[in-house]
Amino acid sequence: MESVRVNLGERSYLILINNGILDQAGEIIFSCNLGKNAAVITNTTVGPLYRAQVIKTLEQALFHVDVIEIPDGEQYKTLSWIERIHKKLLSFDLDRNSPIIALGGGVIGDMAGFAAATFMRGVPLVQVPTTLLSQIDSSIGGKTGVNLPEGKNMVGSFYQPRMVLIDPSVLATLDMRELRSGMAEVIKYGIIRDQQLFSFLQRNMDEALHLDESVLSSIIKTCCTIKAAITSLDERENGLRAILNFGHTFGHAVETLTNYTEYKHGEAVSIGMAAAARVSAEWGYCSQEDCTEVVSLLEAAGLPIHPPALSGGDYLDAMQKDKKRVRGNIRMVLMRRIGEVFVEEVSSEKILSTLKKGLLADKK
Ligand SMILES: NC(=O)c1ccc[n+]([C@@H]2O[C@H](COP(=O)([O-])OP(=O)(O)OC[C@H]3O[C@@H](n4cnc5c(N)ncnc54)[C@H](O)[C@@H]3O)[C@@H](O)[C@H]2O)c1
Repeated sequence: MESVRVNLGERSYLILINNGILDQAGEIIFSCNLGKNAAVITNTTVGPLYRAQVIKTLEQALFHVDVIEIPDGEQYKTLSWIERIHKKLLSFDLDRNSPIIALGGGVIGDMAGFAAATFMRGVPLVQVPTTLLSQIDSSIGGKTGVNLPEGKNMVGSFYQPRMVLIDPSVLATLDMRELRSGMAEVIKYGIIRDQQLFSFLQRNMDEALHLDESVLSSIIKTCCTIKAAITSLDERENGLRAILNFGHTFGHAVETLTNYTEYKHGEAVSIGMAAAARVSAEWGYCSQEDCTEVVSLLEAAGLPIHPPALSGGDYLDAMQKDKKRVRGNIRMVLMRRIGEVFVEEVSSEKILSTLKKGLLADKK
């Protein structure tokens, strides 16, 4: 079993990674000394696949288990569904030490996390992420929350889990497009922090996408280690954690301009990372070779690298509405080389003139 520690003083916790860990979840959670009544929150896709396995292991460890299954989809990540979850939790025999177990992808993790953070002013949370994205990103670091009609993740809180249990074998049932989408965030870690991970991905992308056990476990552990380190240094995104937004400013603009229907989040981030690499080269911050390597790896993962053909003005408007705007400038994460990025506030004029010069096309 692999383990990674997130160091946050008294809120520190372990991320445990192992094929088949789902079957051991009961005894592991039991060892955390929590209440004996547990609530599993999942959705109508993941529930039928893994609910029985999780209930069985929890019951073997003598937990009484109740399950809440919500419909599958980002559109249910709302305050009204949190209220429904709270009311359901209230109908169970829980106390302030009863664990809530989030079994699902990032949507379930964010919602169950927010429900746990707010139910009875906070009950223990265990993350059991089941998508690649949630295993390497959203289940770690404590960001929880829901969307408002006005914007994504607008209501939430920082609330760290007691433990994260990662079973890479559950990725076997994940849709290939979701797997590739998660791979975009894996590639991001290589670009922002770990040149070795980036080269490993260049050599092993096919194996990873075919779920080779040792390749995948190694990738997941490396990504968790990076996310844990960044979270430990900057829990509340006051500084360093912002580098995790590499590709996200432009990626969010792509998502907004296509009404969140055309691209998965990771696909939009892939387009955003290709764009960030291109502007980094264009503005002389990184070499053209590094930019080409980034774009090629995204392509090798089967991810999109060209933004939809909309006007520079539309993109600029969408980027200006982003949460990451500072004093009228747009905060962008740019690349110095593969493995090293930095944050810069860029003026709207500079961005618009670059967009007009043809950010959308690759340099031949
Ligand atoms: N909290 C954070 O730090 C953070 C970071 C990044 C993203 N997020 C959030 O995460 C969400 C996206 O997460 P996601 O990409 O995991 O999407 P998701 O949770 O919607 O899961 C994608 C799809 O895969 C299904 N699924 C999950 N696990 C499966 C499995 N093992 N087998 C078969 N199907 C499975 C889900 O039911 C869903 O249909 C967004 O809401 C985003 O805002 C949060």
